[in-house]
Formats: sequence, structure tokens, C-alpha cells
Amino acid sequence: MKIAIMGAMPEEIAPLLERVGEYTSSEYAGNTYYEASYKGHSLVIAYSKIGKVFSTLTASTMLQKFGAEVLLFSGVAGAINPELKIGDLIAATKLCQHDLDITAFGHPYGYVPEGKQFIEADAALISMAKEVASEMGVKLMEGIIATGDQFVADPVRNRWIGETFNADALEMEGASVACVCDAMGVPFFILRSISDAADMDASFSFDAFLISSAQESANFIIKMVEKIGH
Ligand code: ADE
Repeated sequence: MKIAIMGAMPEEIAPLLERVGEYTSSEYAGNTYYEASYKGHSLVIAYSKIGKVFSTLTASTMLQKFGAEVLLFSGVAGAINPELKIGDLIAATKLCQHDLDITAFGHPYGYVPEGKQFIEADAALISMAKEVASEMGVKLMEGIIATGDQFVADPVRNRWIGETFNADALEMEGASVACVCDAMGVPFFILRSISDAADMDASFSFDAFLISSAQESANFIIKMVEKIGH
């Protein structure tokens, strides 16, 4: 199967590239795409750069140009749910855009006509992730992930996103990737490991834990790849 694995930052895909060993690379529309064979699958791996626009471009490219049949996202997130601590894993059940706002026209936050306020991730991939978590002996929270073009370092904004969308974690790419996959009918799975609490200390915490949390997420994603189709 052709599997896309995507991150937003180089640090989020570095552990994956290290794990697959040999790969080829090609440039397209300002990103580098790495292709490898791993456990009988063809992988295409890339980081998009941060945010909804770049991640939309990369996800679309992975599906349309590289023909990916499933997309897995690996990366880090800020916690909203206080149960989520640094390094903990969360799989998105559904995703929303917390910064999408045409409420002036009577619509709910995160909604535009002909769109969806929430996009649901693939149920089969989530149940596979639960099996992987129990095999690895790691805790995996399932929850709502809110995406926006903001690094949230503010407890007031954090609480607002939590209350408005019932969200458990926030980041900057998941919902846009979900939107692309949903529109193209490609199953997707968004995994994040917590790097910070999206509070006043978020930028320090992010810098301190980006690499270790990205590694946690990547380790899990590799196990997912090993399980797909087996
Ligand atoms: N990704 C990781 N931490 C984040 C935060 N605090 N805000 C937005 N995206 C993040």
C-alpha cells in the first residue's frame, strides 16, 4: 500500500527517515518528498512547514502526485485537556479549525457553508491505533484536536478553544490535512505527542520537548505502518 507520512517540521519526520533507512528524495512545489519501501509498503514522507496553508499543499501533493492511499500525520501539540502531560499521545477522533470565524453571519465557529465544523478521522485507523497502544504498553488518548494558524501561548485562548470545540489538544495543521483527505476520500490518522500546555510557558516547553515528543509520535506511527495490511 502507498502510505503518506507527514509532519509539519523537519524534527517531526527526522525519526521516521532514520527508521526507514534508505530513501530517495525529490523536490516539488517547495517541499522535499522522501520515498522508501518499508515492510512491504511504499512510503512517501515529507514535512510541510508550519500552518494550515502549507500543510494543505503537502497533503494534496501526497495524495494527488504521489498517489497515497492513506495518510498518517506525526507531530507535536499543545495540551488543552489537563490530563495530557508532556510526551503523552493523542489520536484525533475529529478535528476543527479554531480560527475560522464567520460568526458575524450566524454560523458557528469553525464552520463555513458547504464545509464541516468537525472532520472525523478514519475509525478503522483509530481502532488499529488502540491495538498498537496496547501492544506497545503506552497510553493513547482519543480526542478532539483544534487547528489554527496560531502558536497558542495564552491560557485564555487555550480555555476558549477547549470550551468552544470541546477540544483536548491544539496544533497548526491537523484540520487542514483532514479537510484534504476527507474531500479526496482518503483515510487519515492524526497523531500528536504533547510538547507544551499552550500556556505562558509554551514556547520554552515547545523548544525543550519538540525533539523528544516528536520521537514518541514517530515511534508510534512506525508501529502503525507495520500493522497496516497485516
Ligand atoms: N503545537 C505544539 N504546541 C502548540 C501550541 N502551543 N500552539 C499551536 N501549535 C502547537
